Amino acid sequence: MASVTSLAATVNQRVADALSAALPEAGAADPLLRRSDRADFQANGLLALAKKLGGNPRELAGKVVDAIGADGLLKDVEVSGPGFLNITVADTAITGTLAARAADDRLGVPYADAPGTTIIDYAQPNVAKEMHVGHLRSAVIGDALRNMLDFTGEKTIGRHHIGDWGTQFGMLIQYLIENPDQLAPAADIDGEQAMSNLNRVYKASRAVFDSDEEFKERARKRVVALQSGDRQTLDLWQRFVDESKIYFYSVFEKLDMEIRDEEIVGESAYNDMMAETARMLEESGVAVRSEGALVVFFDDIKGKDDKPVPLIVQKADGGFGYAASDLSAIRNRVFDLRATTLLYVVDVRQSLHFRMVFETARRAGWLNDEVKAHNMGYGTVLGADGKPFKTRAGETVRLEDLLDEAVQRAAEVVREKAQDLTEDEIQERAAQVGIGAVKYADLSTSPSRDYKFDLDQMVSLNGDTSVYLQYAYARIQSILRKAGATAPAAHLELELAPAERALGLHLDAFGDTVAEAAAEYAPHKLAAYLYQLASLYTTFYDQCPVLKADTPQQVENRLFLCDLTARTLHRGMALLGIRTPERL
Ligand code: ARG
Repeated sequence: MASVTSLAATVNQRVADALSAALPEAGAADPLLRRSDRADFQANGLLALAKKLGGNPRELAGKVVDAIGADGLLKDVEVSGPGFLNITVADTAITGTLAARAADDRLGVPYADAPGTTIIDYAQPNVAKEMHVGHLRSAVIGDALRNMLDFTGEKTIGRHHIGDWGTQFGMLIQYLIENPDQLAPAADIDGEQAMSNLNRVYKASRAVFDSDEEFKERARKRVVALQSGDRQTLDLWQRFVDESKIYFYSVFEKLDMEIRDEEIVGESAYNDMMAETARMLEESGVAVRSEGALVVFFDDIKGKDDKPVPLIVQKADGGFGYAASDLSAIRNRVFDLRATTLLYVVDVRQSLHFRMVFETARRAGWLNDEVKAHNMGYGTVLGADGKPFKTRAGETVRLEDLLDEAVQRAAEVVREKAQDLTEDEIQERAAQVGIGAVKYADLSTSPSRDYKFDLDQMVSLNGDTSVYLQYAYARIQSILRKAGATAPAAHLELELAPAERALGLHLDAFGDTVAEAAAEYAPHKLAAYLYQLASLYTTFYDQCPVLKADTPQQVENRLFLCDLTARTLHRGMALLGIRTPERL
């Protein structure tokens, strides 16, 4: 199942072979090949090697050049600077590699060396609560990471650890018992109605809870009934969950994201494990009793007055909270689902929680060298003013409103450019462009950093936006349509123009880029690659006539570059969860 090796990897191997032939004492040294502006590639590895072997780097480099010899792969190798190798590959080699690449469904993306099973915890809204902009990042980043991991052969299992447990449900359920017609089950409501029902019940029950001490007490007892599995209480709780799911699904659909019901496994799912989790931690001495609660201490985690901050496994009143559910989830994911990696896509503000949870699990032996846990803590979405994104009234922004606005803005852009599109088509494109814009803006920044939510910038046709990439794709499709019966075909004998070489060498890097981005959980590296691909394509398009090229062979070869660029854009964008419409 080995996929097509990149030209970069082939050249690297060639230089490595020459290196060990010329300098046997060097052992297996890495030439450290990278793309360069001066030539196609530059190898920097000889400098460090010369230091190690105690020779003159330029002299060593000269020996390596002699050992490389000539053949169809390399056009020119020369020593430059203090001892770099500047390497220019033959045009045939570029076209030849791309031709092999084009015949490969995977476009040269290699499978990971040792794939395992990753449980990815992402897109985790809370029951009976509106989704806000903070839930956007987890969903978008998680979905992209999952696509990328899947594509490199990793087995992934999703877990949407929704907030569906806890004391607020005592209040909600008690209110429903006392006002039974408030959340009547209705089969055919949509997401918006579901959420407005939930909001209404939430507000009403909150009002009673805050003003009526006796209700408060009944609500508290209701929590106990819920946690001990009382049937009537559970049935009512289930109604909140079901109503919320209608709402979640509608938002995820708007986000153009597939969520599977069996992967919605919230905090409540671990309820039956929590007591056992606590017992295991107490018996092994990982957790200790302190003021009645069961807690875990850490030497390096201290609060303000230098007092240690513990992780609370069980509260003094016997209740279990967020930590107990996460610790139980780890046991389930490691021992039942047989995970090799636990990946969490959760706001960076929860990173202390995860540090403590992971360390506790390590002490308990649930996590070890064979099973790793990692929190992809992501940064905050900021408003134009650089402060956490809020409405003008200072409220958190509803995710749906934000998505609707993005689609509306995209519709303006699409309509302006649309030539032969019907109104239906405009609406369909607007959704693909608008949602793509939101996702791309998120994914093109390194996840750990904050970013500004700026719709004007996001749907701009110029600059590092998904619309720019989508237009590049659509433009290529239009050229391919115009080409009619002339099919793309690689012609290895043709000399390439500089813009063709630059585009070709970048296309060559797709497989290595995806592999790296997946291994490092870095979707922004794939986004940056795709943006550069579209930019290089634009230059190529400006400098190299495609359908009006000089010879029929050249037309076919340029169509071939167009086609491979389109396929690469399409695949790369799909990995990010973004559509590439055929026409725009
Ligand atoms: N529902 C939580 C929130 O909205 C996020 C859950 C994250 N996942 C986890 N395993 N703790 O903040």
